[in-house]
Amino acid sequence: MSPHEPGPRATSGRLTANLDEAAEVLRRGGLVAFPTETVYGLGARARDPRAVAKIFAAKGRPADHPLIVHLARASEVVSWAVAVPDAAHQLAEAFWPGPLTLILRRAPGVPDGVTGGQETIGLRIPRHPVARALLEKVGDGVAAPSANRFGRVSPTHAEHVSSELGDRVELILEGGSCEVGLESTIVDCSGTTPVILRPGAITQEMLEGVLGAPIRAGGTSEVRAPGLLASHYAPRASVSLLTGAEIAARAEELVASGARVGVLASEIPEGLPSEVERFELSRDLEGVARELYARLREVDRRGVDVLLVVPPAEVGVGRAIVDRLRRAAAPRLQG
Ligand code: TXA
Ligand code: MG
Repeated sequence: MSPHEPGPRATSGRLTANLDEAAEVLRRGGLVAFPTETVYGLGARARDPRAVAKIFAAKGRPADHPLIVHLARASEVVSWAVAVPDAAHQLAEAFWPGPLTLILRRAPGVPDGVTGGQETIGLRIPRHPVARALLEKVGDGVAAPSANRFGRVSPTHAEHVSSELGDRVELILEGGSCEVGLESTIVDCSGTTPVILRPGAITQEMLEGVLGAPIRAGGTSEVRAPGLLASHYAPRASVSLLTGAEIAARAEELVASGARVGVLASEIPEGLPSEVERFELSRDLEGVARELYARLREVDRRGVDVLLVVPPAEVGVGRAIVDRLRRAAAPRLQG
């Protein structure tokens, strides 16, 4: 089956809290969505190529895009990666279990389906207790992208998964709402110096504090990491990033043209037309990260055509928030 065809149907997507059942489904090659502290993942046993192929089919994701392999403990890294540099050891020591993915040189025998045929592999030890317990029970690596359709907003509640992928996954393991709310920080440690490929809750400042040296951000090709494609993490509504001072005038124009307009901001600007839907975010950056994706889904549910966003300051986790908002606002590749 090509990854672009609709995925297998007629699966139940049943919500469960039963870890044994979920581990059993994974061990026999099925798909299980499970909570992590960042976002919900769509899991399959990483060493089973047929199981991994189901992930691509369910998401509608191109097959050359690599997946992150989730592990229960650091002692498993050696069966997935080779030549682990000191920097990676330091980062793993400091931030695992947690919202950090390390890109390393892959070990021989790691299936191509997981790495998208590349010589590197993404590894993460999540800290969510349900994810950890599940990984312990499976006893092997679980490949998991975010449990959303390709290009869309990542799920931060079990209900997000059931509404978007419920007919394409056997089980959805319940774990409440995700504490971080944005995807993991990805650091490429496969080259001579570490590079941040995707900002997240483990911030540049935190990474530099552990490494004792500046770390470069960005600098990879689009094919290597779809999270780095221009348009990604996007709601159906079109998204524009503006300053608080620009919003009222823009909202008025759009309302006059007949559009259904929403405003997403930590401080909703004064003077908006009464027709505008208001989506207020927390004042603190961690709160914004935690609730952002749920708010974007709410924007779509309310039928907003154009969402005007006042982005937060680009410090700490603010860099990751603004990164996702820019991608949500980028020109869409497809309609
Ligand atoms: O927080 C997260 O990272 C979540 C949870 C479920 O762990 N997962 C997640 O997976 O966001 P996904 O597939 O939606 O995004 C992972 C990103 C993709 O952009 C992928 O291309 C990149 O990681 N990636 C994975 N392996 C890579 C590799 N070997 N080289 C470069 N990028 C890689
Ligand atoms: Mg994703």
